[in-house]
Amino acid sequence: MSIQETLSGIFSGLMTSKTDAYVGIDIGSSSIKVAQLKKDKGRILLETYGEVALGPYQDKEEGVAGQLTNLEVGVLTEALKNLLEQANVTAKSGLISVSSATSLIFILKVPHIDQRELAGVVENEARKYIPVPLSEVSLDWWVIPERESYGEEDLGISKKKTEIDVLVAAVRNEVIDRYNTLTKELDFSSVAYEIETFSAIRGSFKHELSPVMLVDVGASGIRMTVIEHGVVRKFRALNRGSAFLTSSLEKSLEIPFEEAETLKRDVGLDKGHKNQEAYNIINTGLNYVFSEMQNVVIDFERDYEKPISKIILTGGGARLPRFKEQVESRYNITTVFADPFSKALSPDFLDGVLEQAGPEFAIAVGLALQNLE
Ligand SMILES: Nc1ncnc2c1ncn2[C@@H]1O[C@H](COP(=O)(O)OP(=O)(O)OP(=O)(O)O)[C@@H](O)[C@H]1O
Ligand SMILES: [Mg+2]
Repeated sequence: MSIQETLSGIFSGLMTSKTDAYVGIDIGSSSIKVAQLKKDKGRILLETYGEVALGPYQDKEEGVAGQLTNLEVGVLTEALKNLLEQANVTAKSGLISVSSATSLIFILKVPHIDQRELAGVVENEARKYIPVPLSEVSLDWWVIPERESYGEEDLGISKKKTEIDVLVAAVRNEVIDRYNTLTKELDFSSVAYEIETFSAIRGSFKHELSPVMLVDVGASGIRMTVIEHGVVRKFRALNRGSAFLTSSLEKSLEIPFEEAETLKRDVGLDKGHKNQEAYNIINTGLNYVFSEMQNVVIDFERDYEKPISKIILTGGGARLPRFKEQVESRYNITTVFADPFSKALSPDFLDGVLEQAGPEFAIAVGLALQNLE
């Protein structure tokens, strides 16, 4: 069983359906993204996709794209319903991502003990990481296979490891309740949930086996995951994302958010841009992100004694001008944008558009692929 399947089991409402079209729904803090895929004669087809900015739902007069939102469930449902209608979504099976902002993912080191005792030990240890009573969260966990260590066994020396790593995912029950309220209003015959990190992996990976760092630059936060052989080795989330850069420009330059958003997308990390003031604000805002990214790389390479071979960028914020190039040159690691749509067949004339939109749709496409790959 894959890690994704294990973690999608975290929710009790999981149902499977026999229909062959699936819609992946990524409810981000600034926008909702959907993608509908279908299997036809063994091929995966992209049937439709679409996005709606949530800003205007938060603030009817002044809401803008890129703005962080925290919508009441009724309004969120309305936004999603409108999007499903506009994008012509017909699938009856919906898959919804749970943001890593509302879930907690961490790796525990526990003693090497009997499988039966493990559940109790994990729960006990997890308590230290979870800031609310365990009764308020749904918990799932998965033992991370040990990295291959051939040497000792080959020599016949048995050196038993004393600790094992366990990947734990905790989601607040109120988050699940919120999604349940939302999906009740939709016309789906089946609904399943998945923590977004795992959807992003499915949407971005192309059978990579050597270590890859996946970086999701969202509006509200940035998540970094190191994956090797399909297994999560490191996970780190920063609660400042691309919207923070827009707010910094808004405040420092005393301009409206909308103008700051346009400026951000224009200037980015282009050192030679004529607007040096904006460049400096963006550059300073990202310093912390780059050093956190570096820490994850160093941590992984130290603990696993092998290099990260590639960085895959997802999320709208990754499209900041010169961001990809900066990442690549800072860590000297090949860096690419996720291209989730390449996993499905679509009309040729859409190729350019889909490649551009790819990073933002990695989660939605990854969700829709859950039952198709
Ligand atoms: N071309 C671009 N250049 C710079 N930033 C961009 C560009 N396009 C989109 N963004 C930024 O990307 C962010 C939106 O990305 P995304 O849709 O991945 O976030 P989200 O899923 O809503 O947020 P989160 O995952 O944090 O909940 C916004 O902050 C937006 O300003
Ligand atoms: Mg997102």
